[in-house]
Amino acid sequence: MRLSLCFIAALSLVSAGPSAAADAENGLRIAQRWCAECHLVTPNQSRAKADVMPFASVAERKTAQEISAFLTDPHPKMPNMGLSRTEIADIVAYIKSLGSAPADTAPPPPTPAKEPGLPKSG
Ligand code: HEC
Repeated sequence: MRLSLCFIAALSLVSAGPSAAADAENGLRIAQRWCAECHLVTPNQSRAKADVMPFASVAERKTAQEISAFLTDPHPKMPNMGLSRTEIADIVAYIKSLGSAPADTAPPPPTPAKEPGLPKSG
């Protein structure tokens, strides 16, 4: 049945898991939802806690590995939000995208929607 083949193809994309390329766009969404209360998560954001490092500075000062290690086991001053490994990878990808970006940073361009790749035969 073509429909179920398609479903399986879509499922295998979803379950590709943490080994799949990190999604900086998703990281931005998570950051805006969970981190923006305290951190400046985008260069355009105007309000956050004064004594907390903006993500742009985090990007300059920390390696991707340091950021993900921190988020796996956060410092007591920062709440542990129980992020999954995939969420951490996405956030790290987003933060690091701030570091290399030019000063007037726009959010990373949207990635084209992934098509499951329908079987050609039949
Ligand atoms: C309730 C406020 C709060 C929220 C929400 C919050 N943070 Fe933090 N964050 C802090 C504080 C405070 C520090 C400084 C910790 C310290 O130096 O002890 C910090 C530090 C950091 C650092 C730097 C760690 C280092 O090595 O210096 C990173 C990276 C970070 N936060 C990422 C995040 C991410 C990603 C989120 C969202 C998932 C988030 N934070 C949400 C308060 C917060």
